[in-house]
Amino acid sequence: MNAHTKNFTIGFIGGGNMASSIIGGLVPNIVQSQSIYVFDPNADQMEKLSSDFNINTCSSNSELVQKSDVLVLAVKPQVMATVLTPIAQIILDKQSLVISIAAGINCDLIQQIIINATHVKNINTAVIRVMPNTPALVKSGASGMYANQSVSTEQKDIAQTLMSAVGSAFWVEKEQDIDAVTALSGSGPAYFMLFVKSLIESAEQAGLPSDIAKQLAIDTCAGSAKLMQSSEHSIEQLIKNVTSPKGTTEQALLSFQNDKLANIIDKAFQSALKRSEELGVELSKTI
Ligand SMILES: NC(=O)c1ccc[n+]([C@@H]2O[C@H](COP(=O)([O-])OP(=O)(O)OC[C@H]3O[C@@H](n4cnc5c(N)ncnc54)[C@H](OP(=O)(O)O)[C@@H]3O)[C@@H](O)[C@H]2O)c1
Repeated sequence: MNAHTKNFTIGFIGGGNMASSIIGGLVPNIVQSQSIYVFDPNADQMEKLSSDFNINTCSSNSELVQKSDVLVLAVKPQVMATVLTPIAQIILDKQSLVISIAAGINCDLIQQIIINATHVKNINTAVIRVMPNTPALVKSGASGMYANQSVSTEQKDIAQTLMSAVGSAFWVEKEQDIDAVTALSGSGPAYFMLFVKSLIESAEQAGLPSDIAKQLAIDTCAGSAKLMQSSEHSIEQLIKNVTSPKGTTEQALLSFQNDKLANIIDKAFQSALKRSEELGVELSKTI
């Protein structure tokens, strides 16, 4: 058990996909199941979490905040204000650490919701914002994290432990960098899946049976990721290793180059980046 998490109780507000995945990564070795609480309006969902992982259920978010030192906000961004408003005073009284995984909701916005609800102006709630991605559902996620000024080193360690339970987790210094994280690893799974889908379609057109084309494409993607993770060589070198002079890979890479693949990828990345910034602004107007 991690030295920093053993003395804490952790409450999950929302027990959906992402919360289930994180809880599944934490118990039983990283955090004791009896130190974890969950509340979700979907009683079946909550009972399933309780029976799968032997964690505690609560009858309301207020009860959950009372019992938890660390709060994980695992609800959709659109309901964040509705969720936080009734529990804002307890968060202030308990000086809870708030870890939000909701896309587009920045730390100031969370503080502002608490200020609006409590009418206490000078608050210094410790808020950590996390941008996870869907591979976290299979414990192979990649998360970017940002901590506001009120977060202590010990609290950062807790967030690191939580997100490391479902993959890799990295800190960014500036909160605006979470937008770039969103455009890279948050949206990234869809980019790679689209690439794989196109490859499958090309292979099918060339006559390969669909199931074989699908498995080869997925395994090639997963194998390339493992090779990049474990090899001592740079990505450029690994590409060179597949590329024999006048060979097949060289022809495909030349085709990508002629079609300016790097520009296509950069344009898509910039579009995602811009949309992430816009979403933050749009959500802040709803508070
Ligand atoms: N899934 C991902 O890979 C991913 C990636 C990046 C970021 N995120 C972020 O992670 C957050 C959770 O995503 P998810 O995929 O886990 O969503 P999800 O499966 O829909 O889970 C959210 C849960 O919150 C519950 N909920 C709604 N109102 C609540 C309330 N007042 N109090 C407590 N719980 C409440 C929902 O119940 P009902 O269904 O009954 O409303 C649902 O079970 C989102 O903000 C999303 O932006 C997710």
